[in-house]
Amino acid sequence: MPVITSIDDLKRIYKRRAPKMFYDYAESGSWTEQTFRENTSDFDQIRLRQRVAVDMQDRSTATQMIGEDVAMPVALAPVGLTGMQSADGEIKAARAAEKFGVPFTLSTMSICSLEDIAEHTTKPFWFQLYVMRDADFVADMIARAKDVGCSALVLTLDLQILGQRHKDLKNGLSAPPKLTPKTIANLATKWRWGLEMLQTKRRTFGNIVGHAKSVENMSSLSSWTEEQFDPRLDWDKVARLKEQWGGKLILKGILDAEDAKMAAKIGADAIIVSNHGGRQLDGALSSIRMLPSIIDAVGPDVEVHLDSGIRSGQDVLKAMAMGAKGTYIGRAYIYGLGAMGEHGVSEALRVIHTELDTTMALCGHKNINQVDRDILLVPKDFEGRWA
Ligand SMILES: Cc1cc2nc3c(=O)[nH]c(=O)nc-3n(C[C@H](O)[C@H](O)[C@H](O)COP(=O)(O)O)c2cc1C
Repeated sequence: MPVITSIDDLKRIYKRRAPKMFYDYAESGSWTEQTFRENTSDFDQIRLRQRVAVDMQDRSTATQMIGEDVAMPVALAPVGLTGMQSADGEIKAARAAEKFGVPFTLSTMSICSLEDIAEHTTKPFWFQLYVMRDADFVADMIARAKDVGCSALVLTLDLQILGQRHKDLKNGLSAPPKLTPKTIANLATKWRWGLEMLQTKRRTFGNIVGHAKSVENMSSLSSWTEEQFDPRLDWDKVARLKEQWGGKLILKGILDAEDAKMAAKIGADAIIVSNHGGRQLDGALSSIRMLPSIIDAVGPDVEVHLDSGIRSGQDVLKAMAMGAKGTYIGRAYIYGLGAMGEHGVSEALRVIHTELDTTMALCGHKNINQVDRDILLVPKDFEGRWA
C-alpha cells in the first residue's frame, strides 16, 4: 500500500487507475475552466496567522451541520457517476463517510440507487435532487428518499441546463462506456477497474433506469437527461418542492447575495455557496470569494455552507474562519475513491482531518466552533471591486 500524505497523492494514483473518460469527467470545468481554476487558486491567496504559546491539548473538530453531529465540518458532495469511478462507488463512499462520522450526499445521477445506499449503511444519508420536467418522477424520487430515511434533501439550483465540458463531448462520456477502438485501448490498461466492474451489476443510473417512464436502458438515457432537466425551475417551484419534501432542505448552487436572500426567505435550513466546482457558469467568481458577501446578506437566518475548490483541511479551515458552518468535498474524495475504493475515501477524509486539526492548532485554536476570521490574513482586495 502506498503511503498517502496528501490529496494530491490520491489524485496521481486515481489518474493511473481510472479510465480516461471518467478521470476527465471529474477533472474538468466548463469552457475555459477559469472558474474551475480560480476555485482552488483563490483559497491559496488567503494566508493564516501563526499563534504560539496556546494550550493545544484536547482539540476537537466536531460540530453540527443542519443540527446533525459531524466529526468535522466536511460532507461528501453529490457526484454523478461515482459508481463509474470505482465499482459500487457510491456504496463505498457512503460507508467511508459513515465510519468517519460525516454526511454522505447521494446524487440523483448516481449509479447505485437510494435503496442500495440504505441497504449498505446504517445511518441516514442526504439525497441531492435535480428537478426534472417529469413531475411524477420527481414526486416518486422524493417519496423514495423519504422511504429510505434520508435526513436532508439537497436541491441543486445551478443546473437547469448543462454547462459544456469539452472533454466529455470528445470522449463520448457514457455509463457504462461505449466500446470503441479508443475506449477499448484505454480500458485494456485499467485492469483493476475492469475486474471490479465485471463483478457488479450496477453499471448504469440506478435512481432512474426502471423508475422513470420509458427509460429501460442506457441508450435512451442520455437523450432523456438532456430533455428532462427542467429549465423552468423557479422560486415558486422550489417552495412547492419544500412542501412536498417536508424535511430538512439544503439549497445548493447559490453564488449571489440576492439569491441567498431568496433562499432564506423560502425557509431553507441551509444553502451551499457553490459554482458546481466550476462546471456550470464559466467566468463566475469562486465560492470562497463570494462567501463573505453572502454571509453578510443572510445573517443568522440560514446556515451557510460552501463547496468548490476544497482540496485540503486548510481550505476547510479557511472557509470556516470566513463564517461557513460546513463544507463539502467533491473531487477530493473522488480522487480517493478512484485510487483505492472505500479505503481511498477514508484516506481522503483522514488527510483532510489531519490538516484541519493541525492547522487549527497552529493558529492557536482547540475547537473548530471557536475559529473566526481572526486567524486569517486576507488580501485587502480579496472580494474584489466588481461593478
Ligand atoms: C464529477 C462531478 C460530478 C458532479 N455531479 C453532481 C451531481 O450529480 N449533482 C450535484 O448537485 N452536483 C454535482 N457535482 C458538483 C459537486 O456536488 C460539488 O458542487 C463540486 O464537486 C464541488 O467542487 P470540488 O469538486 O472542487 O470540491 C459534481 C461534481 C463533479 C466533480
